[in-house]
Amino acid sequence: MRTSYGPRAVFPLLVGASLAVLLALVDGNVDHAALLMKCSERQDCLTKRTVWEHFTSDLPSCLVNARVWWSSKSLGIPVTLVTQLSAERLDQLKAQCATWGGPLAAALYVPLHNPSATELLETSRQKLEAMIAHADELFRNSENNNNGHGCQLRLALIYELFADPRAQILYPVNSLRNYARLMADTDLIANIDVDMVPSLSISTALAEPQTLAEYTRACRSGAVYVLPAFETHCGGTSYADSVAVDGKKAVIQGIKRCVRRMRPKAPFSHNSTKYERWFATDEAYSITYGPLFEPWFISWRWGTLWYDYRYRGYGKNKIVQAAAMNATGAIWLVSPHGFLVHRPHTESRARKDFLRAKFSRKDMQALRGTVYEHVESLWEETKAEFADGKYVARVERDFQVCLGSLPWWQSSGGG
Ligand SMILES: *[C@@H]1O[C@H](CO)[C@@H](O)[C@H](O)[C@H]1NC(C)=O
Ligand SMILES: *[C@@H]1O[C@H](CO)[C@@H](O)[C@H](O)[C@H]1NC(C)=O
Repeated sequence: MRTSYGPRAVFPLLVGASLAVLLALVDGNVDHAALLMKCSERQDCLTKRTVWEHFTSDLPSCLVNARVWWSSKSLGIPVTLVTQLSAERLDQLKAQCATWGGPLAAALYVPLHNPSATELLETSRQKLEAMIAHADELFRNSENNNNGHGCQLRLALIYELFADPRAQILYPVNSLRNYARLMADTDLIANIDVDMVPSLSISTALAEPQTLAEYTRACRSGAVYVLPAFETHCGGTSYADSVAVDGKKAVIQGIKRCVRRMRPKAPFSHNSTKYERWFATDEAYSITYGPLFEPWFISWRWGTLWYDYRYRGYGKNKIVQAAAMNATGAIWLVSPHGFLVHRPHTESRARKDFLRAKFSRKDMQALRGTVYEHVESLWEETKAEFADGKYVARVERDFQVCLGSLPWWQSSGGG
């Protein structure tokens, strides 16, 4: 039944992986979308529908590519922005695409409550078909927008089947970040959450061969470039978008109006960036990774650690990866060229529930069964593994199969 959702394939799915690799060597013109569809095609997720206990037992969930779209526009800057989203955030994706001059690889997620273990129900099928149509339209518009600006979109529509409707709050953020990254084939990548708009100045800077060479050299030798993050507290989405276009001056002027540093109530999450220094300089500078720092950054594709799928729902998911990068000796630089602006949106239910549990000051008994409880216990476990130098991000076996089969993930070309 899943085969009815075929990819936009130049080659039929029957093309063997080895033949595909061969063709890739011949002319670099293999249909990437078809290869990505193929690597997850064996899965039967009906028998592995997600229930709450999969989360509390740290079991991976079954994720399926319903369809993959891959831009045929010519490549802009060779840096892939990697992101993930649910359907309510499609406008944020468009905003990211508008100011990013390179490939934008996005995993679009659809949770489906499917009580049947033997068939994809009509309701699920309809929801999926509606999403495919919607994503297809967005993709086509992006392809037709050829005014020289904007991203080259690579979009994977990924669904998960749930037996337990309560578990649908467990947005698999880290799995999606990893699956989206599979669509990156450039040396440099930037994992940036979909509600953050990249400044146009990043793409402008990286279009300069000398600047690109500098970033590439530093990233290859273990550095990452943090993009300072700001949020807006008035002016709405159009103001946030204009700051991203207008550049550093607009940020500095905006500080007196609608712009502020990201998450002022949680200073640890971004203050290692040393904002004051960034305001004052045109040069990259190095910083020290502080506890709970969770920056977005540009990094070398082959040196960037994967995200741990066990963290889902809400909380700590990004910190774990950043702290692991730090533990492996990453050199933290701050980009003088670029920054990110948070685009206001409605809060997710997962976030609201998590924060309610966190600040409820209830005893652990009362928190039993919340996302907060499990994520905090995972975090304690992870910190102990960091201390012993034993932490390794958990990735799903199905994900590893894809990683092992996609031709552009097989060799770092001299790194
Ligand atoms: C960040 O904020 C925390 C909490 O206010 C503070 O303890 C810490 O020293 C700050 N770190 C930096 C690098 O400014
Ligand atoms: C970051 O890594 C350095 C070097 O391994 C380590 O000394 C430091 O404690 C780490 N910082 C945090 C907050 O984990």
